[in-house]
Amino acid sequence: MWTLEGLGQLKPALLLELLDDPQDFIKTTALRLLEINPTQHAQMQQVLDQKVLALSKTANIKVALQCALSAHLLSSEVNLTVNQEIIDRFGTLALIRDAVMSSIENQEFILLKKLWVAPLWQSPEQAQEIFLEMLASAIARKKDPTELLTLLELMHHQGKTFGKKEQVVLNGLAVAALNFKGSNPIALSAQPELLKRPDLPLDQNGVANLKNLFTWPGFNPEISRVSKHALDEKASKQFATGRQKYLTNCAGCHGTDGRGMDRFGPPMVGSEWVLGDEKKLSLVLLHGLEGPIVVLGKKYDAPDILPMMPAHSIMDDADIAAILTYIRNEWGNQANPVTAGTVGSTRHTSQGRVIPWTVKDLDKYVKAKWPSEKLPKAKSNDGLCC
Ligand code: HEC
Repeated sequence: MWTLEGLGQLKPALLLELLDDPQDFIKTTALRLLEINPTQHAQMQQVLDQKVLALSKTANIKVALQCALSAHLLSSEVNLTVNQEIIDRFGTLALIRDAVMSSIENQEFILLKKLWVAPLWQSPEQAQEIFLEMLASAIARKKDPTELLTLLELMHHQGKTFGKKEQVVLNGLAVAALNFKGSNPIALSAQPELLKRPDLPLDQNGVANLKNLFTWPGFNPEISRVSKHALDEKASKQFATGRQKYLTNCAGCHGTDGRGMDRFGPPMVGSEWVLGDEKKLSLVLLHGLEGPIVVLGKKYDAPDILPMMPAHSIMDDADIAAILTYIRNEWGNQANPVTAGTVGSTRHTSQGRVIPWTVKDLDKYVKAKWPSEKLPKAKSNDGLCC
């Protein structure tokens, strides 16, 4: 197929036919080649729409992934339907969530509105929560006043009690707001009803960040943001990036709320590992850790905890630093941000290590490597959070 493409002999009509081939690899290749040889007539477009829609309902994960990645070829309504189908079937996979997010660019709000009323989305599971939060963050980044106001109305829902769905969406907006703290807030003629509510399901920083997206007579985010969040502007951006990366890479075991998950991973909230020495923490992320481990006085060991903390050395220094800055400052945690430089120099000292640490190995290593430094004792965190 690629040879025919190179010879200029590949026609969209043939590619459409190949979408029915029994072999996955032929189907996915046909989709990829349709990106370079798009359909030219409305009639062909209709055929493509129908075929991909049908595929999205039955395809296995490999074909579904390619359908999501190529969905921008479809007419915009079908694009959303296809992506909704795929997120319903395979949304527990981070890779699928990312593919869907990239192919629905600029239509995030429309998809969110569809999911809001979809029966399967009424009591969202963790992966669905993550996806709703990703949509909300993307909507905040787009900063379209009409969309944001309609979204706030939808969340307000005439004063009805907030549920989990509302909480994750509002959190997505609040976290994204950190990226443009105070810069070009959206000017409103009055304070939205939602933002007057005393029962917003966010902590104090979250509420402040959410409001910072806007300005209205009597409220100027530049002024009100002072001292609402202990992080400076650079660290705030790290925090926002860190949240996204945390949701993709860590929440599956440690929970979207950092409280840990039975059988999967210990808590981040108040953990002495999270709040303690940055280099030691970086080493845990870089190479992983094999239990047993004690966190907040509780021992986590097989068979209660099944997996092992995996290595994340494949991530770059800036991403690891963002995740660490995030977990050290979310859920009531408070510790200084971690820079990419610290992660980089720590990575350098342990280069070549291919097996995860045990707690004993790690302690020994840290003591030998940085003997003169007294590692800060983690403060206990009584004021936890939310
Ligand atoms: C596959 C599940 C899994 C994933 C994914 C995972 N962890 Fe862990 N993590 C664990 C387990 C399990 C432990 C405890 C050590 C052990 O038993 O191996 C742990 C321990 C930790 C600890 C030290 C103990 C604590 O609770 O403070 C930190 C910090 C940590 N993980 C951070 C992260 C971060 C940040 C990410 C994402 C980049 C992540 N983990 C991804 C399973 C996971």
